[in-house]
Amino acid sequence: MNVLGIETSCDESGVALVSVEEAKIPHLRSDALYSQVQLHRPYGGVVPELASRDHIRRVLPLIREVLAKAPASPGDIDMIAYTRGPGLAGALLVGAGVASALGAALERPVQGIHHLEGHLLSPLLSADPPAFPFVALLVSGGHTQLLHVTEVGKYRLLGDTIDDAAGEAFDKSAKLLGLGYPGGPALARLADFGDPEAYALPRPLLQRESLDFSFAGLKTAVRTHAARLDSTCEQARADLAASTQAAIVDVLARKSIAALESVGADRLVVAGGVGANTALRARLQADCARRGARVHFPDLALCTDNGAMIALAAAMRWQRGLATPVADHAFDVRPRWPLEQL
Ligand code: KG4
Ligand code: ZN
Repeated sequence: MNVLGIETSCDESGVALVSVEEAKIPHLRSDALYSQVQLHRPYGGVVPELASRDHIRRVLPLIREVLAKAPASPGDIDMIAYTRGPGLAGALLVGAGVASALGAALERPVQGIHHLEGHLLSPLLSADPPAFPFVALLVSGGHTQLLHVTEVGKYRLLGDTIDDAAGEAFDKSAKLLGLGYPGGPALARLADFGDPEAYALPRPLLQRESLDFSFAGLKTAVRTHAARLDSTCEQARADLAASTQAAIVDVLARKSIAALESVGADRLVVAGGVGANTALRARLQADCARRGARVHFPDLALCTDNGAMIALAAAMRWQRGLATPVADHAFDVRPRWPLEQL
């Protein structure tokens, strides 16, 4: 059985082909990605209308590329999966529309997938896949959540952000430091040259028992320090970048360990764009090793948005009888869609 996955929820068009047998973890046959970073860069952030229009241009060539690389023909596709939400409505509609049209043409079922389910299952495509149950730290541009994952489709929310997401904290701080979009990787690069202890930045909600996050206060503190920076002093900018990253990483790591302890789990899975951050990876490796726990990351290429995680989620749902594909070519998208509603 071959599942084609299509991801168009934000600023990357991703397509992938995954093959699946009854009991085994699905296997990634081929994938292709087109990042819209260059398109949005002049605006300092994602412009939704431009994103939708670009997805229209990219999706069909990406599907052809994925089939050629596999290699496979359209007739080999048994199910088509697309990101149904959450995300930008217009962007989501492109993937949903193409998936449904393809389903109609090939007479194949079409399955809508929750973007965050894709992210949190993505480490299963790595060389060292985690076993269930595990705690998932989901850190993307729009979400920061801790979840107890007991099986595919069984996600219990342990903690959530009450304001900004971790990726947003990276992006907004980067902007305050005069770095371009996308801010997370740019801030991380600058942080390499700085002293993480140069600025004492707030670590909100850390003292409380709650597993919730808050990053708005950190942004305010970064704004205050950034306004006082001597624009000729590169070192001070790097120090502020390093201190910002350290504050975010510290909060994410300590809450993740607290979540493992609260449910008695010994496996942590990290997913979403911020999971690509090297400092976060190193800190979680060390903290987990210290308490005899394992930490799993998706391959770097699968941390940010991609089609493989969408095909994977559909394949794993199908294996467990949890897929709900439609065959009448009707589709919808859910720009706002809490994972707990799955
Ligand atoms: O999962 P993702 O690709 O898209 C969403 O679903 O939101 O995550 C994007 C987020 C952005 O905020 C980006 O700045 C952040 O992930 N990001 C990083 C790094 N790479 C991506 N943040 C920190 N360090 C990185 N290396
Ligand atoms: Zn994402």
